[in-house]
Amino acid sequence: MSDNNFDVVIIGGGPGGYVAAIRAAQLGFKTACVEKRSALGGTCLNVGCIPSKALLQSSHHYEMAEHEFASHGVEVKGLKLNLKTMMARKDGVVDDLTKGIAFLFKKNKISHFIGSGKITAPGVVDVTAGTKTETLNAKNILIATGSSSADLPGIDVDEKQIVTSTGALALASVPKTMVVIGGGVIGLELGSVWRRLGAEVTVVEFLENIFPGMDGEVVKQATRTYKKQGIKFKLATKVTSAKAGKGAVTLTLEAANGGNAEQMKADVVLVSVGRKPYTTELGLEDVGVGLDGRGFVTVDGHYQTSVPGIYAIGDVIGGAMLAHKAEEEGVACMEMLAGQSAHVNYGAIPGVVYTHPEIAALGKTEEQLKAEGVEYNVGKFPFSANSRARANADSEGFVKILADKNTDRVLGCHIIGPGAGELVQEIALAMEFEGAAEDVARTCHAHPGTAEAVKEAALAAIGRAIHI
Ligand code: FAD
Ligand code: NAI
Repeated sequence: MSDNNFDVVIIGGGPGGYVAAIRAAQLGFKTACVEKRSALGGTCLNVGCIPSKALLQSSHHYEMAEHEFASHGVEVKGLKLNLKTMMARKDGVVDDLTKGIAFLFKKNKISHFIGSGKITAPGVVDVTAGTKTETLNAKNILIATGSSSADLPGIDVDEKQIVTSTGALALASVPKTMVVIGGGVIGLELGSVWRRLGAEVTVVEFLENIFPGMDGEVVKQATRTYKKQGIKFKLATKVTSAKAGKGAVTLTLEAANGGNAEQMKADVVLVSVGRKPYTTELGLEDVGVGLDGRGFVTVDGHYQTSVPGIYAIGDVIGGAMLAHKAEEEGVACMEMLAGQSAHVNYGAIPGVVYTHPEIAALGKTEEQLKAEGVEYNVGKFPFSANSRARANADSEGFVKILADKNTDRVLGCHIIGPGAGELVQEIALAMEFEGAAEDVARTCHAHPGTAEAVKEAALAAIGRAIHI
C-alpha cells in the first residue's frame, strides 16, 4: 500500500472530523484527516466553543470582582481590566487544546494533511497547500467541513466594526456601544462578554422572543435576567442596513412586519443570525453529492451522501449545530462503516447557553408536547430553595422536568441556573436509559449540591417535592 492510499479520508478537522478520525483509527482503518487551518479543532476549538467559553469565564470573574465580591466580604481596590492579558489567556487555551488534538492524531497514527481538500472523483481527494497539490486515494471519504457565519444581505462584515463571532472574540478594545443582530446563542454569549467588560449592548431580534425554539418559560426568565444585567432588547425588529463609518456604524432598523425606519449608532455591530454549511471548493457538484435547498449535504441513515463511498456529518449536514452532535455523528458513521450497529439519539442532545446563569435545554419543550398532544407532568424547582445555590449567592432560575403523564418517562428537561450545563447531564443519561422521573427522584444526590434541585424537580413531577 502506498503512503497515500487510505481506508478513510476525512475532510475537516473540527469536532466532527477529528473525533471520527480517532474512532476510525481505533477501529483499525488507515485514516487521514485533511484540514486547511494550520491548527486542528475546527470552528469549535479555534473560533467557537473554546475561545468563547474562555472569555465568558474571564469576564465573569471581572464582573464578580466588580459587583459581587464585596457582599462576600472580599473588598477589591483598584480593579482594572487588562484586555490584552485576557485575550492572551484565551489564545493560550486554544493553542494548548489544538496541540492536544495533534498529539492524539500522532498517538492514533492518523495522517494529518494541512491543506484544502477537494473531491476530484469518488475515492480521490486532492489536497492543495499553496502551490503544491497531493492526491490521496480513499476507500471512503467523510465530509466534515462544518459551517460559517450566515450573512445579512447588504451588511458587509469587516471583522473590525462589523464583526461575526470570529471578530467579536478578538476585539482590541472594549466598545462603548455594541449592537448584536440576532438574539440567539452567539448573540447572548458574546453580548454578555462585552457587556460585562463595559459595553452598552443592544440585541436586535427579528422574532418576538430570543432563543427561538427554547422552552417559553426559560426564555421569559432569561430575557428578564439579561435585562436586569443591563442588556437592552429590540424584539420583533429587523436591521435593514448597517454602514461602517469613521468611528461608528450607522444602522437602520424597522419593525419586523414593516413600519417607520429608525437609526442607531454603535461602535461595533455583531452579526449573529445563524450559520450556513461550508462546502466551498469541495468539488461536490463535480462528483454529484446532493445538497438540500439551504445548501446542507443530504445523507441517509448511515450518513452516506447521494454518492456511494462519500459520507458527511456535523454542521455541514444541518440539524443542531453543536460540537457534541457532530462528534456523536462522526463516531456513529465510522462504527457503521466498520459493520457495527450504531445510532445517534437525536431526542437527547443537550444544548447549553453559557451565559450567567447558564441555560440547558434537553428533549421536548412544553410547547412541543402540547403541539404533539402528549399528556405530561411538570416538576419545577427553584434554585432559591436550594441550599448550595443560596450558600453560593447564585440562586436565580429553576429546574423543570417534563415527564409522560401515563408512564412517568422523562421527556424533557429545561434548566436556567448555576451550572445548568453540567446538571442537565444526569437527565440526558436518564433519557438514554428511558428512565422515569421517579428513577431520578429516588437517586441519592449529595448534599449540599445544586444537583439536589434536579432531584427535587423530579420529585415535584411525581407530586412529592420536599423543599417547596
Ligand atoms: P467545524 O468545527 O466547523 O470544522 C470544520 C473544519 O473543516 C474547519 O476547521 C475548516 O477549516 C475545515 N474545512 C472546511 N473545508 C475544508 C476543505 N475543503 N479542506 C480542508 N478543511 C476544510 N457548539 C457547542 O456544542 N458548544 C458551544 O459552546 C459552542 N460554542 C460556539 C461558539 C461560537 C462563537 C461558534 C461560532 C460556534 C459554537 N458552537 C458551539 C458550534 C460548534 O463550533 C460547531 O457545531 C462545531 O464546530 C461543528 O463541528 P464540525 O466538525 O461539523 O465543523
Ligand atoms: P442562532 O440560530 O442561535 O440565532 C440566530 C438568531 O438570529 C435567531 O434568534 C433568529 O431569529 C435571529 N435572526 C435571524 N435573522 C435575523 C435578522 N435578519 N435580524 C434579526 N435577527 C435575526 O444562531 P447563532 O447565535 O448565530 O449561532 C449559530 C450556531 O452556533 C447555533 O446553531 C448554535 O447552535 C451554535 N452555537 C452554540 C453555542 C453553544 O452551544 N453554547 C454557542 C454559540 C453558537
